[in-house]
Amino acid sequence: MKTIRVELDERSYPIYIEAGALEKLGQICSEHRLGPRVALITDKTVEKLYGSQTLAQLRSAGVDAQLIPVPPGESSKSLEWLDRLYTRLLWAGFDRDATIVALGGGVVGDLAGFVAATYLRGVRWVQVPTTLLAQVDAAIGGKTGINHRFGKNLIGAFHQPQFVLTDPELLQTLPERQRFAGLAEVIKYGLIHDERFFTQLETTWDGCLEDRKRSSTIIERSIEIKSEIVSRDEREVASRALLNFGHTIGHALEAATKYQHFLHGEAVAWGMLAEAYISYKKQGLTAQDFERIAALLRRLPRPAFPPSLEMEPFLEYIHRDKKARHKQIWLVLLQGFGKAALSGVMEVDIREAFEYLRASS
Ligand SMILES: NC(=O)c1ccc[n+]([C@@H]2O[C@H](COP(=O)([O-])OP(=O)(O)OC[C@H]3O[C@@H](n4cnc5c(N)ncnc54)[C@H](O)[C@@H]3O)[C@@H](O)[C@H]2O)c1
Ligand SMILES: [Zn+2]
Repeated sequence: MKTIRVELDERSYPIYIEAGALEKLGQICSEHRLGPRVALITDKTVEKLYGSQTLAQLRSAGVDAQLIPVPPGESSKSLEWLDRLYTRLLWAGFDRDATIVALGGGVVGDLAGFVAATYLRGVRWVQVPTTLLAQVDAAIGGKTGINHRFGKNLIGAFHQPQFVLTDPELLQTLPERQRFAGLAEVIKYGLIHDERFFTQLETTWDGCLEDRKRSSTIIERSIEIKSEIVSRDEREVASRALLNFGHTIGHALEAATKYQHFLHGEAVAWGMLAEAYISYKKQGLTAQDFERIAALLRRLPRPAFPPSLEMEPFLEYIHRDKKARHKQIWLVLLQGFGKAALSGVMEVDIREAFEYLRASS
C-alpha cells in the first residue's frame, strides 16, 4: 500500500492510500493497536453509503465500535453539535483510551477531530476522508475545529491523527460538483509548489477523475505536497500560509454570497484566478504563465461569477480577513510556478481583480 508520512517528530503519522483501502481498515487498526473502544463519527449521507462496511471492519479488529451520525453539511460544525457529541461519548462511558474515527468529508473531519482534541483533554483519532477535498487537503495537517456565529473555523485546535486511510474508490459515489470543487485545491498545489504537476494536469485534464489510475496519481501527488508543506510548518507560522493561495479572495466571495452560491473549492478557483491576475499585474508573473493558469481554471466547471455581487460588500469581507493590516492587504502571490510568497497589495489592486473576474465570466 502506498504510504506517505507526515513528519512531525513524535506526532508523525502515515497516510495510507490505495483503491479499496477501506477493506483493510480493521487490519490497520489492529496494527496501530487502536481500541478497545471506538466512536465512529460520520454524517448521515456517508453513513448510508459506507457506515455498515466501516463498522464491520472495526469490529473485525476486535474493537467495540459505536456509530454516531451527524447531519450532513456545514451546520454540523457548530457548538451545538459539539455539545451533543461530548454528551453521547460521556453517556456511553468512553474513557481516555477511546479512539475516534472520522468517516466523511472535511466537515466530519474538522468536527470529529476537534472532539478528539478536546474530549477528556484529548484522545487518539483516525481519519477516513470520503470527499476529494478531504482526501487531498482537509485530512492532512491536523487542523480541526468548528464555526462560530461570528465566522467560520474560529474555534479549533491542532491535533494530529494516528493515521489517515485514503481510499480513492470512495469518490465513486461523490457528486460531480463536489469532485470538481476538490480539484481546485489540486490545481493550487501545482501552482504554489510544482510546475511539473501543473503541466501534468494540463496535459491529462480531460476525464482525469473518471480514470482511476490518473485520479489516484493526482490524489497521491497532492497528498505528498500538502504533507511536505505541513511537515515544514505544522502551525502555520510561515510556509504553510502559502496554502492560502486563492483563499483570501475566495473566502470573501463565499462570505459575500452568504455561502449559498459557491462550494468552497469553486470560490477558491475564482480566487486563484483573481490572485493570479494580481500576480501578473504586480508580482512579475509573466503574461504567458498567467494565460496558462487562466486557461486551466477556465476548464474547471464552476458556477458563473454572480452578476449581482457588488464590489463594496465584497471588499468589506476582504478587510475583515485576518490578513488585512495597516491598509495593506496580505495575499499569497506567484512570481512563477512554484514561486509563491506572501505580499502586501493595496485595495485598488483588489478592485481591479474583482472587475477582471466580473468581465471574464
Ligand atoms: N482542516 C483543514 O485543514 C481543512 C482544509 C480545507 C477544508 N476544511 C473544511 O472542510 C469542510 C468542507 O469539506 P468537504 O468539501 O469535504 O464537504 P462536506 O464534508 O460537507 O462533504 C460534502 C458533501 O458530500 C457528502 N459526501 C461525503 N463523502 C461522500 C461520498 N463518498 N459519496 C457521496 N457523498 C459524500 C457529504 O455528506 C456532504 O453532503 C469545510 O468545513 C472546511 O472548512 C478543513
Ligand atoms: Zn481551501
